[in-house]
Amino acid sequence: MVQTFEKREIILVPSLLSADWWRVREQIEELTQAGCGWLHFDAMDGHFVPNLTLGPMFLQSLRPHSKLHFDAHLMIENSGDFLDEFIEAGADSVSVHAEGNPHLHRLVSRIQEKGAMAGVVLNPATPTNVLDAILPQLDYVLVMSVNPGFSGQKFLPLALDKIKLLKEWRERENLNFLIQVDGGVNPQTVSSVAQAGADVLVCGSSLLSTRQSLRQNVADLRAAMDI
Ligand code: DX5
Ligand code: ZN
Repeated sequence: MVQTFEKREIILVPSLLSADWWRVREQIEELTQAGCGWLHFDAMDGHFVPNLTLGPMFLQSLRPHSKLHFDAHLMIENSGDFLDEFIEAGADSVSVHAEGNPHLHRLVSRIQEKGAMAGVVLNPATPTNVLDAILPQLDYVLVMSVNPGFSGQKFLPLALDKIKLLKEWRERENLNFLIQVDGGVNPQTVSSVAQAGADVLVCGSSLLSTRQSLRQNVADLRAAMDI
């Protein structure tokens, strides 16, 4: 049987982790012109993940120059120590990991009280049922489709079942959260992710690759989505 999927808006979000730092301004301008409405900022602390990257200062320095939605993904142990800084720097949405943050309800509530969208991130080995108590309060769930820490890794298909489970859960309980996916999304994997039900696709190496224009990267991903 051929399955049909409703035509719906999918948000493609460039992850600046894969940007060319010398040319980051022109790359953001090109992606904006190509229709990208969000930018993804990966904040890594060197403990929770084996890499050290962007802090709130970076986001703050771009904020006056861009109207895009700034999405901060905190790969930081005890993310509560930095929440206020990221939101004050201009993050429109902030996600914190279910692993490494024992007081998720407090963090999610604080993000929302400060006026940003709140997301909870699940590592590949973390099941969706850890969200049982907090799901109705979330603005989005971020399903990691690689182990966090680096761009350019291979997509883990186990993410697809989690996306489907979340989508069914959302329909069953009449909830509103968005389903975001991060890691290994490229023209080969994007259609399975879109068809599983993801709404927001974070793409690092596939959108920022400089083998061709960034506009063409956006077009290739959209064409490969097949929804
Ligand atoms: C990985 C980061 C991702 C990364 C994705 O830990 O959270 O946002 O930039 O990069 P790609 O799309 O290349 O896997
Ligand atoms: Zn990320």
